[in-house]
Amino acid sequence: MIQRKGIILAGGSGTRLWPITMGVSKQLLPIYDKPMIYYPLSALMLADIREIAIITTSEDQEQFRRLMGDGGQWGLHFTWIVQDRPEGLAQAYLLAEDFLAGAPSVMVLGDNLFFGHGLPELLARATARPSGGTVFGYRVADPQRYGVVDFSAEGTVRGIIEKPVQPPSNYAVTGLYCLDGSAPERAAGIRPSARGELEITHLLESYLAEGLLSVETMGRGYAWLDTGTHESLLDAGNFVRTLQARQGLQMGCPDEIAYLKGWIDRAALRARADLFGKTGYGAYLASLLS
Ligand code: TTP
Repeated sequence: MIQRKGIILAGGSGTRLWPITMGVSKQLLPIYDKPMIYYPLSALMLADIREIAIITTSEDQEQFRRLMGDGGQWGLHFTWIVQDRPEGLAQAYLLAEDFLAGAPSVMVLGDNLFFGHGLPELLARATARPSGGTVFGYRVADPQRYGVVDFSAEGTVRGIIEKPVQPPSNYAVTGLYCLDGSAPERAAGIRPSARGELEITHLLESYLAEGLLSVETMGRGYAWLDTGTHESLLDAGNFVRTLQARQGLQMGCPDEIAYLKGWIDRAALRARADLFGKTGYGAYLASLLS
């Protein structure tokens, strides 16, 4: 079986967060005590993915590389890819075609946070499907802002409707896409939409047309947060702070996941704990060793 690979889409223009994102990439902004990209990265790691392409704008790539390097500190391997202009989520599959080399993938948007008991199992169910695609539906109060799942009476997916005026359900499609190796070829067949983007919805429709798209719903016990506006950015930070303070457990900690999965050994984790010194993050890593 070909090993599934990961993509983090961390380009875009972040115009809704201006003026902040005029000087720095959105996905490098803090979500409480960590850079935003740590959280989607953690989701891929929980899906057992170690080969990851990170797509950024050309001007931001250097900062991301300074933060994350080649991934070796977490037992991962990163490939860095540039997206010159934000021409749509589906473009990621064209840019990552050589990297994927026919492999199935999980793509996560760099500004999406996922949290919930059972997330690894949910991801495992999706990645175990050898062909087709899986997306995740999440109940939201304001479906008009998202791609929304249209379910048939039997509960199968009839369609996905982008920003519907009259939403067919309350289930938004989250920024986590588990697709088989045909995704780049399918992406090559779609045309830019009226807003000039290669739409992920159109890519998903190509799977749907062949009966190859599954939707897993994330129930009440999950949090799916996006961070594209000032309010949602602050909400996400507060969510992480509240949860971590209450439980004494870190959310979105790649070092912890790498250690628990056995991708780095005690000595490597010790070195990371020392690197972070007296910060709460460093103390947390040290506590995992004792
Ligand atoms: P969006 O939130 O749709 O766009 P954006 O981040 O550019 O922000 P804004 O609307 O405020 O201008 O993008 C969702 C995620 O996907 C985000 O992490 C950026 C990323 N993205 C790309 O990397 N390339 C793209 O072509 C697009 C459209 C988005």
